[in-house]
Amino acid sequence: MNAVLRPARPLIDTAFLANPYQAYAALREAGPIHWSDEFFGGAWLLTNHTDVEMALKDPRFSAQRTGAWVKDREEERGELSGFQKLFARALLFLDAPDHTRIRKVLNAGFRPDVIQQLVPHIEQIVSDLLAQAQATDSFDFIEQVARPLPVHVITRLMGIEDGQRHDFMVWSDHLALFIGSPLPTREQARRAQTSLLAMSAYFEILLEHKRHTPGDDLTSRLVQAEARGEIDGGAELLSQCAMLLFAGHETTRHLLGSGVQALLTHPEQCERLRREPALLPSAVREFLRFDSPVQYTGRRVATDLVLHGQQLRRGDLVLPLIGAASRDPARYTQPDTLDITRNEGPSLAFGVGPHVCLGAALTRIEAEIVFRQVLARWPDLRLQDASPRWGHNPAYRGLLALPLVHGV
Ligand code: HEM
Repeated sequence: MNAVLRPARPLIDTAFLANPYQAYAALREAGPIHWSDEFFGGAWLLTNHTDVEMALKDPRFSAQRTGAWVKDREEERGELSGFQKLFARALLFLDAPDHTRIRKVLNAGFRPDVIQQLVPHIEQIVSDLLAQAQATDSFDFIEQVARPLPVHVITRLMGIEDGQRHDFMVWSDHLALFIGSPLPTREQARRAQTSLLAMSAYFEILLEHKRHTPGDDLTSRLVQAEARGEIDGGAELLSQCAMLLFAGHETTRHLLGSGVQALLTHPEQCERLRREPALLPSAVREFLRFDSPVQYTGRRVATDLVLHGQQLRRGDLVLPLIGAASRDPARYTQPDTLDITRNEGPSLAFGVGPHVCLGAALTRIEAEIVFRQVLARWPDLRLQDASPRWGHNPAYRGLLALPLVHGV
């Protein structure tokens, strides 16, 4: 066996949150796998594209990892067990065969024709949000566009009344803060638990309503699948709803914010995209690679194995560093350069293998609509503030605020 590599100094600090890519490069150069105590009390970090892709596809790495949330938290175990039990049933944290069965049910709600039906609605919401932002010369793109848009879209897809949108944003912010934190505080854990319970209570009522009065939406499809015996009512159904609401918010917000920031700090790329809107799909692909909104995910070792001379034991936590894979020079030419014409295939930003992002097509469409409308509406859009304010969550990389000016 090789000696265990550990990061030379603690990874997560202000400099890392502002720009993790130098630290990732240093790790990758030192070796493909490191042990770090900074994440959930200890985890293996995978640093290159080949290994990240392998861990996401290989069944020797299990998606069941919610136990890490209550591990080493004796005093909170009781408090958090409701949260852990409910979320443990969500697709993201399941292996086959349960994963295969539930994924099939959910796939039906994300078919290309279903997503296409949403396009006019998304165009309209984006146009309304930008019109509101237009009312003042300067505005915060995150607060006024990137934060509200995903919740508008997912609530429409799920058949949720408009009035609940504010609660959903707050609930899912709490969940993201907890799930994305490498060592959640007790307060973060409590807030996430309270929000998840509030979400569940909301869905219990909504699902009951859809059982009697189905519509043409995702939650109605779910209760129909329940009636056919394809998904259990109760916790299994509730956890998918909670996961769907949470999964797309923070991530999409970050893609939109980081993408606008990337364009405005690379004026030549921005001009090129204005001139050639046909590059939009490739530009969105590049934004996803350049600053991947999900910087890492997690897996548990399902069976003892040796990787690059390291003994990994059953139950060990493994963090495939998607953010590091996205900048791996063995996979991408000049990985630290933003190139909206890059033609090197999709990155691992949406994952790969059985858990590849269910919302990927929806997100791409949403993002293309936003970037097209932003560029068309504001020819002289610029940053109000030269220093970006990156968030404090190492798992979900994105801007806290993006103040922009569109007037002269
Ligand atoms: C920029 C936006 C997004 C990014 C970067 C993103 C990223 C990811 C990644 C990396 C995974 C795989 C995680 C793993 O393997 O552990 C994933 C899974 C998932 N995503 Fe997304 N996502 C985005 C938007 C969305 C949206 C809008 C939705 C829903 C409407 C969504 C729903 C899901 C679901 C349900 C899964 C779990 C799939 C499974 O376990 O089979 N995502 N996403």
